[in-house]
Amino acid sequence: MFVLPKNPNAELWDGPRTGLEGVKELFGADEAYENTRFIPYLKNVLGSSKHIFMDNYTVPTLLTEAESKLIDTGLKLQTILPLSKVVHELRTIKSKSEIEAMKESGMISSKAFIEAMKWTKPGLTESQLWAKFEYETRVRGSSVLAYVPVIGGGPNALSMHYVRNDMELKDGDLVLVDCGGEYKGYASDITRTWPVNGKFSQPQKELYQAVLNVNKACIKLCREINNMSLHDIHSESVKLMKQELKNIGFNVNIWDIERVLYPHHVGHYLGLDVHDTYDIDRSRKLKENMVITIEPGLYVPFDDKFPKEYQGIGIRIEDNVVIGKDEPYVLTASAPKEIVDIEFCCENNK
Ligand code: GLY
Ligand code: MN
Ligand code: MN
Repeated sequence: MFVLPKNPNAELWDGPRTGLEGVKELFGADEAYENTRFIPYLKNVLGSSKHIFMDNYTVPTLLTEAESKLIDTGLKLQTILPLSKVVHELRTIKSKSEIEAMKESGMISSKAFIEAMKWTKPGLTESQLWAKFEYETRVRGSSVLAYVPVIGGGPNALSMHYVRNDMELKDGDLVLVDCGGEYKGYASDITRTWPVNGKFSQPQKELYQAVLNVNKACIKLCREINNMSLHDIHSESVKLMKQELKNIGFNVNIWDIERVLYPHHVGHYLGLDVHDTYDIDRSRKLKENMVITIEPGLYVPFDDKFPKEYQGIGIRIEDNVVIGKDEPYVLTASAPKEIVDIEFCCENNK
């Protein structure tokens, strides 16, 4: 490992550095050098290496310099292979200790959802709910939120990337909260949707139940023996959604669903990043101890093509799931999602 050397003057201002000895002791590095020796070291090993694995889009100045030195030595650029592909392969299937960290991460954020639901009432702002959620995750040991949350009251939930989170929560509306904390570097990524006043209206209930049915059916598919990929589960979710919508009186085709009502994918890999291992294609068959999200949603615009009573409602239910050989393990099971549980939870603080 190449690290910053100890420097009492710099440490006086910025705090202690691990230094060369610390890096061996703490991280188990076999060899440790000052970071200024990285380029000479790299130049030295170039001649004896067939391939160089490197991501030239990270640490730009250092690597651009290294790259130009490669060219100087006459090595062809195609001998540089992306490091991320190799690392992402290693990250795809989680180890036992990674699963433990992700269980804790999911548990912390799920508990924060319970507290946020209990606390919600008309007149609060989306921003206050954000603060509440962040507080509840941090006091439970989460280091930071894993991403900028989406906290959309009423029709704000129709914008997938709504991150202004600054409007008032209104009586009679739902609020969609997509928020998760990090624990030991591992992200959780949860969405729940609940009524601001604690009680679902009849149309809200019907639309919610449709999404919930799809969420639960998709989670059941998260087993290695099913030999399915994320894309396969997504296709299944679209078919299921079509049936659910038909049951409550929508007359829609697949185009309406995939382009308008449910325009995003059912899920993605999850781990150190929220959208983890982007080098791993979603057509890969799911294997035991991969971790994914399952997050179907419905977002009904103000368009009379769709039944009036559901217009302006946006719902997503997102869970984090460990693929099991025979059974999935839901990391976010303690975040309420059944209608009775949500209403009970909202009732709890009134
Ligand atoms: N929070 C980002 C996502 O659900 O993918
Ligand atoms: Mn999310
Ligand atoms: Mn997600």
